[in-house]
Amino acid sequence: MQSNYFQQLTQDLKQQGTGTPQLILDLKTYQHNLDYVQSKLPAKLKPRLVVKSLASIQLLKLASEKLNSQRFMVFHLPQLAEIMGTFPQADILLGKPMPIQAVKPFYQTLSEQNKTNDQVNIQWLIDDVERLKQYLQLAQELNLKLNINIEIDVGLHRGGVSGQAQFVALLKLIQQYSSYLKLSGLMGYDAHVAKLPKILKSPDKSYQQSQQIYQHYKTILQQQFPDLSHETLCFNGGGSPTFMQHCQQSICNDLAFGSMLLKPSDFDLENLSALSCALWIAGPILKVLPCSQIPGLGLLNHLPHKYKAVFIYGGYWRADYIYPKKSQPHVLYGRSSNQEMLQVPMQCDIHVDDYVFLRPTQSEAIIPKFAQLYVYTEGKFLQWQTLRE
Ligand SMILES: Cc1ncc(COP(=O)(O)O)c(C=O)c1O
Repeated sequence: MQSNYFQQLTQDLKQQGTGTPQLILDLKTYQHNLDYVQSKLPAKLKPRLVVKSLASIQLLKLASEKLNSQRFMVFHLPQLAEIMGTFPQADILLGKPMPIQAVKPFYQTLSEQNKTNDQVNIQWLIDDVERLKQYLQLAQELNLKLNINIEIDVGLHRGGVSGQAQFVALLKLIQQYSSYLKLSGLMGYDAHVAKLPKILKSPDKSYQQSQQIYQHYKTILQQQFPDLSHETLCFNGGGSPTFMQHCQQSICNDLAFGSMLLKPSDFDLENLSALSCALWIAGPILKVLPCSQIPGLGLLNHLPHKYKAVFIYGGYWRADYIYPKKSQPHVLYGRSSNQEMLQVPMQCDIHVDDYVFLRPTQSEAIIPKFAQLYVYTEGKFLQWQTLRE
């Protein structure tokens, strides 16, 4: 972003801001990112929005309308009911295996309205036989039929079945108890593809390998369990770092992503360069000092200084200072979540009640820390509630 963008944003915040740290969404950039993503998605790949990365109902609504999808991936149980309440046709795939202790009260307290809302589809993620038996017992107790999506390990080694024997055992159990369990698909997350050092393996190669592992499980399913293998199975993969690779060629029919629509800095990847950051933190300036004063190191104050010191309201977020340019925390002074000290270049014209701006490294770590998103559009701010932790 250009300096004049942040100067204008500062002026608008000085007139309309809250004087507390604010999480800003640049609406035009978010819409631009959505347009771009829509233009790249092939018809056979259905988009699934990752709720933790876009943790605001309004953010999700906009993306859902634009991409014409009510598929969601949910990672936090309290958010399940919120999504179900907002999106009547939601197809929800859990992004992690939920402990049975969390699932039980969910079904016990499910409102009558949601119980009869058979339009909403929930796919529970299962990674091993023990857990599947727990879900089976719950289904028998409550007389339910649960949709089961099996997590497969395609190389990330975070979870999921890692071998044929375990996979087959899960499928057999689903087949045996078909009145209580229904196979709804597979999920293979390939975040390692973009993260491995290139010297170890090229992203293309590790993507191909993860796709081959996926294909291997798909073939076992189709050949050994033809009665579980139906047209509507959801073969989920993703997310943001491999979005472009999936768009070019993918074994999946369902693609989860979220973060790249806001483009925090962890997603500064070559193949996502057409997307821009849409999320900023604005921190009000409380004090400006001619130079940083390090307790116990008064002698340093007599040396020439290249920076002045400012203290801001808040700090120590998972985010990088981005404006004023070349601002940074002081290595010796350390970090503070309450009033962080920041070194700002001496020539920078900055005053108390101005703002500094930060770019989050992740959206999932930052959005739940703020009660509202301040949606910046044509010089004005709308307020959107966030989904808290
Ligand atoms: C299972 C799974 N799928 C997809 C994603 C992608 O989300 P994002 O695009 O926000 O990185 C994640 C992120 O953690 C994930 O855990």
